Amino acid sequence: MPLPSSKVLVSSGPASAVDRVAPLRAAADFAETYLLAAEGRSIAPSAEAVAALSALAGPLPEGSTPAEEVVRLLGTVGADATVINAAGRFFGFVIGGCTPAALAASWLVSAWDQNGGLYVSTPVGASLEETAVEWARALLGLPEGVVGGVVTGATAANFTALAAARNRLLTRAGWDVEADGLFGAPELRVVVGQEAHPSMLKALGMLGLGRNRVIRVPTDGQGRMRADALPHLDDRTILCLQAGNVNTGAFDPAAAICPDARAAGAWVHIDGAFGLWAAASPRCRHLVQGFELADSWATDGHKWPNLGYDCGLAMVRDEPALRAAMGIRAAYLPRGERREPSDYTPELSRRARGIELWAGLRALGRAGMAAIVERTCGHARRFAEGLLEAGYEILNDVVINQVLVSFGDKEKTLRTVARVQQDGTCWCGSTVWQGHTAMRISVSSWATTEDDVERSLAAILKAAGE
Ligand SMILES: Cc1ncc(COP(=O)(O)O)c(C=O)c1O
Repeated sequence: MPLPSSKVLVSSGPASAVDRVAPLRAAADFAETYLLAAEGRSIAPSAEAVAALSALAGPLPEGSTPAEEVVRLLGTVGADATVINAAGRFFGFVIGGCTPAALAASWLVSAWDQNGGLYVSTPVGASLEETAVEWARALLGLPEGVVGGVVTGATAANFTALAAARNRLLTRAGWDVEADGLFGAPELRVVVGQEAHPSMLKALGMLGLGRNRVIRVPTDGQGRMRADALPHLDDRTILCLQAGNVNTGAFDPAAAICPDARAAGAWVHIDGAFGLWAAASPRCRHLVQGFELADSWATDGHKWPNLGYDCGLAMVRDEPALRAAMGIRAAYLPRGERREPSDYTPELSRRARGIELWAGLRALGRAGMAAIVERTCGHARRFAEGLLEAGYEILNDVVINQVLVSFGDKEKTLRTVARVQQDGTCWCGSTVWQGHTAMRISVSSWATTEDDVERSLAAILKAAGE
């Protein structure tokens, strides 16, 4: 029988400082145990651990639960059902790890509980974000004066930057799209590569520009846009290029495309979710040549820079266009002389994730960022070499950190992927690249060692040989 409401345990009232700290200490203990055990755990959680999550489901209890008990549930049942990104042997999607400084900073950001949207609500968040965006601009080799917003990822960054593109092109055509919407607006054309990432199309859909209402430019066998196949470009065109294809890692030929596109008055946008960070490495920088000529760029902090989730960057040359698309005004929202973070992002209230970006980049420095890029690319080359030696087919030119391998026909390849995931030494996913089923190996974590690569390679070869 339920307790009468007056007897229901409620411990949600104001807590003393000591009461607030105890759950944090418990969380730190669980986090320590977790990180120390990560190396020895299966990368994918067991089916039993995933099934045990049902203990955390069910109706919301009527009474309150002590914070330490909530932390205990997460630290035990929750932790067992995680995928281990901390060990350096997760090679799925484009998922890195979280560097120690970024992880520790995220704890402080949570303890500080800053609203990242306004300077007045977080002078530290707004200031560090401004600095971090500028550091990122320089690392990415983008022109001085380019501004940026710190968002949740490349999907949101594509959306944000393309909103600025939409604003500028329609303003030039005499149309105020923020005020009047797209009903009756002059027509814009959007040009994308055949191998554009689906998040780009999603962003276009959210902006009312249409996921399918795009002109798709044919690509080559690596997924690079063919410069010779571009349609007519003009000042009503948004041209979307890609720096780093999610499957092959290939780069569109920006140096061959951007000068003419800009001369024609088109807005050139770059989806460089991970690949754009190649600019940070002296050895890989040649791959991003020409991308600096664009008008806007989307990239991720949570991919190659190895910040924790989530962190993306929308970088734009035309600051007024971005601010016109994103800005917000109200009598109760004070505006000072300083940069207001919410002028650059879709959100008003949000996590002050610019602090984590600052911490992650500060700890890495230029050399550290270059080292992650070069080390992970080296690991990818080693995977390709080992698989090739064993007689398997590598479907892409391994230009950066992505490897596509076929183990034979579709069934054999998918069977191998399933066995690799089941084995737990490492984790790789599957894809279909231009009609061929492949296993994807994306080496994106700062934590991956040569030993991790050799152990993973052995596990993959064993799975393929079974
Ligand atoms: C080229 C490219 N663009 C966009 C995205 C989407 O990024 P996010 O998941 O951070 O939104 C990805 C993800 O892998 C990507 O590789």
